[in-house]
Amino acid sequence: MILMVNCSYKSKESNTQFYLEKLKEKVGEGEILSLKQIFKNDIDGFVEHLKHADALVIGAPLYVDGLPAQAVKLLELLYENHRGEFPNLPVYVVSNLGFYEAKQIKHLVDIVRNWCLKMGCTYGGGLAVGAGPMAPCIQKIPFEKILNKDIWRGLSTLATTIQKKETMENYYTKTLIPRIVYLKAAHRNFDKYF
Ligand SMILES: Cc1cc2nc3c(=O)[nH]c(=O)nc-3n(C[C@H](O)[C@H](O)[C@H](O)COP(=O)(O)O)c2cc1C
Repeated sequence: MILMVNCSYKSKESNTQFYLEKLKEKVGEGEILSLKQIFKNDIDGFVEHLKHADALVIGAPLYVDGLPAQAVKLLELLYENHRGEFPNLPVYVVSNLGFYEAKQIKHLVDIVRNWCLKMGCTYGGGLAVGAGPMAPCIQKIPFEKILNKDIWRGLSTLATTIQKKETMENYYTKTLIPRIVYLKAAHRNFDKYF
């Protein structure tokens, strides 16, 4: 069983949820849990669940150039109380961010990689999606498949890696639209809030 955790606290329209659902489709199995729900219920139940998992996928948006605080809290709790209890468990990352440049996610995946080292888990690699809110927005437009081609390729690569319990290099990708177009669209959306 592949356990996927959405660390976004958005109750609806979470972009992380979108990418995790696409990944789950491609892997052909998986259970997506919300971190908000995990903390609301009981963390011990989650730990038991994790003990029976074949792999863990951490789905996390980039917050202030790092992991969201609630995701850090989860990793800290697991480290403090359950270090060494998941030997060689493959851990993967699916992350997205508001900025255009996917490379900004490098520190987030490094945090998870270092955590894996300390925990005795195996860091399996990650998918980092720049201009993350774009793919969920343009699902219904013509040429969507072409524009998101590289994201789907990245998701397929990660899905195959998870199925085989292998490791891969981090895959950095984004929707294939020019930066200026993305910035204009993002600002229009952003302006709605002010
Ligand atoms: C508190 C907060 C901090 C954020 N920090 C960054 C950031 O440092 N860099 C960035 O590119 N995007 C940042 N974003 C944008 C999110 O990464 C982006 O909107 C992502 O798609 C959110 O995923 P979600 O819908 O699953 O929560 C931030 C968003 C929030 C709410």
